[in-house]
Amino acid sequence: DRLYLQDLTRGFNRFSLSDPFFSSAMATLEAIKYSRGKLLVLDQLRLPHEHHYDEVSTSEEAFDCIRSMRVRGAPAIAIVAALAHAVELQNGSCTATTPEEALAHIDSRLDYLRESRPTAVDLFNAITLLKTAVRAAEIKGLAHPEAKDAILTAYIKAAEEILAKDLRTNTSIGAHGAAWLKQQYNASLDHKISVLTHCNTGSLATSGHGTALGIIRTLHTDGLLKHAYCTETRPYNQGSRLTSFELVYEGIPSTLITDSMACALFGLHRENMNIGAVIVGADRVVRNGDTANKIGTYQLAVLARHHGIKFVVAAPTTSIDLETETGAGIKIEERKREELTQISGAVVNADGSVDTTKTARVAIADQRIGVWNPAFDVTPHALIDAIVTEKGAVVKGADGKFNFSQVMPERW
Ligand code: MRU
Repeated sequence: DRLYLQDLTRGFNRFSLSDPFFSSAMATLEAIKYSRGKLLVLDQLRLPHEHHYDEVSTSEEAFDCIRSMRVRGAPAIAIVAALAHAVELQNGSCTATTPEEALAHIDSRLDYLRESRPTAVDLFNAITLLKTAVRAAEIKGLAHPEAKDAILTAYIKAAEEILAKDLRTNTSIGAHGAAWLKQQYNASLDHKISVLTHCNTGSLATSGHGTALGIIRTLHTDGLLKHAYCTETRPYNQGSRLTSFELVYEGIPSTLITDSMACALFGLHRENMNIGAVIVGADRVVRNGDTANKIGTYQLAVLARHHGIKFVVAAPTTSIDLETETGAGIKIEERKREELTQISGAVVNADGSVDTTKTARVAIADQRIGVWNPAFDVTPHALIDAIVTEKGAVVKGADGKFNFSQVMPERW
């Protein structure tokens, strides 16, 4: 019942799974719990101190949940938006009497949800897929008297399939990513590699397993992972609050660093820790391979290139936007100033234990300072070695260009 975390400077830290800190959260690590007509979403603002699910039953509640980042991560955002509308349809929110009215109702709810966050393309791709699915049902359904119901049922089934498919997708990304890295480094049980990841791309950002963190999980399961490093990921701290929580939960040997320590880590420990890759997720990969991901990703790509470390993007094909040619076309979300000037966390008692019942919001900067807070940056494709999808790893050709025809032949 114990977890061991290796701390490079001080040996191993030992945690008991019966500590109150873990016991509330250990039951399960699922961001999204769904059964037809009911959607529960883990409030990630309260993690890792509290494990609380909100019931999300309407588009408005989903919009608020996504905008406030109680749920975040490109795939999870799309899944929650799609399923929240499925729940409200299941519960009789659509008063349309004709198929045309039903389609207009669904379109308007989806167009509203589309505005919740602007950068991750998974939500936009899910909306296109759902609109197509209900139109296919309309063509079949118009011929019989239950046409409207056929449309609503088609929506619910298509939304549920997005959830189910995401888990299969993530497991495949894990397998393809681990296989690619194994081949690059001739990794084996006797020759393991260490990796660094940024932000949170795990079970909390998806329906389960995760994308970049899914590759790390698979490397660990296959006995090929020496050590995982995760960055704090300022300002929202997805790395320290969420990824470190997932790594501890999985018993993966891991160490947390601040974003500003990556260069020192590579300089000092690249060789003795055999650091082979930076593995990150994506909010949007565009046609030439430029990738928008959590702010701080671009600087890691520059550092990785300088130190001869592979830079790997893990992205389901639902995160690929072939309509946008280059990263210059990606809208980057800017968030509120308080994310930089204030921080929230649980209260630490005088003896060093964490009081999980109390959270505090603390000012950490002069509240009058000007603030620039972009949530994402764009890593140029030139700095990316591989983009790992559920259909395989895509690498650049001799012309230095990514070509997604092998993984998305129908849209390339
Ligand atoms: O602002 P967030 O937390 O939604 O940003 C999340 C990321 O940048 C992730 O890396 C990305 O969405 C991929 S999650 C599998």
